[in-house]
Amino acid sequence: MDKIAIITGANTGLGFETAKALLLEGYYVVMANRNAGKSKMAIKKLKDICKVDHVEYMIMDLEDRPSIEAFVAKFESRFGRFDVLVNNGGALLPKYSLTKNDLERHFDVNYLGHFYLNSLLLDSISDEGLVISLGSLAHKMEVADIHFDDIAFKKSNYEKMKAYSQSKLALTLYGVELARRFEGTNKRSIIVHPGVCNTDIFSRYYGKYLGKILMPIVNLFGISGPKEGAQPIIHAILTSNIPNGSFIGPQGKKEWRGNPGFCSLSDKAKDGILAKKLWAYSEELIGNKFIID
Ligand SMILES: NC(=O)c1ccc[n+]([C@@H]2O[C@H](COP(=O)([O-])OP(=O)(O)OC[C@H]3O[C@@H](n4cnc5c(N)ncnc54)[C@H](OP(=O)(O)O)[C@@H]3O)[C@@H](O)[C@H]2O)c1
Repeated sequence: MDKIAIITGANTGLGFETAKALLLEGYYVVMANRNAGKSKMAIKKLKDICKVDHVEYMIMDLEDRPSIEAFVAKFESRFGRFDVLVNNGGALLPKYSLTKNDLERHFDVNYLGHFYLNSLLLDSISDEGLVISLGSLAHKMEVADIHFDDIAFKKSNYEKMKAYSQSKLALTLYGVELARRFEGTNKRSIIVHPGVCNTDIFSRYYGKYLGKILMPIVNLFGISGPKEGAQPIIHAILTSNIPNGSFIGPQGKKEWRGNPGFCSLSDKAKDGILAKKLWAYSEELIGNKFIID
């Protein structure tokens, strides 16, 4: 059977472009999306462009634990194993909000939903399987930290970038810690950042109308589009000798865009003690042990 790739949030943006590239390489692609209508449209587009049939979607909402469990049960009964998992789905939100898990939404969607998904799914990874986690330059921001004493910003002042960067630092710490736990096997965990690229993430953040005016202006300052932004993800998947634990991103000025290559993580992202503390804390939040055999 073809190699099987799962991509979260693949109906648009970087996830969609990654799905397209993998389909053209012969992968069977399973999109883990939260919206059926958008998924059907994306699949139609992918089939039209790629002239292939080996793509499907299964519903999964990263902030809804039962939907993650249902996705994993359905995926495992249909396929039993996967070769590539891309922890891609995510959001940059204009306002403070909590999910029904009583967690700040960036943290729950961008990070903890993926941690939960991975904890249920990694028994099905193939022997040479690969997990890609979507980091961001935001993990290096001065405000980026894991606020264990107030993870949902209920006591302290909420700042959007503090919350987004917390979620992206968390997913990066996860990707690096997973690489440590994969050591001695042929499995790999690679962290990727796409630079800065004009996807729906910004029109959702600025609103449809402001986004339409603002983004073309911002484009003039050298940001890329989704096709270019997805190249580090695609490169990390299709290049077989990228070492476990690498951080891949664009190589141009300030790493905003350019050809993919090796990038450096912040000191915090490499902090093994912090990563282990976050792993244990995340296990408490999901109410499950996440053990890598
Ligand atoms: N664009 C950039 O410059 C940039 C920079 C650094 C990192 N990133 C990261 O790249 C990833 C992809 O972003 P993008 O730029 O491609 O943005 P995008 O076009 O807005 O795509 C985001 C995807 O995530 C999905 N998603 C959002 N909330 C979800 C949830 N609760 N459950 C399941 N799926 C959910 C969206 O689904 P719906 O369409 O149904 O909402 C969509 O498919 C994100 O993790 C983002 O943080 C992007």
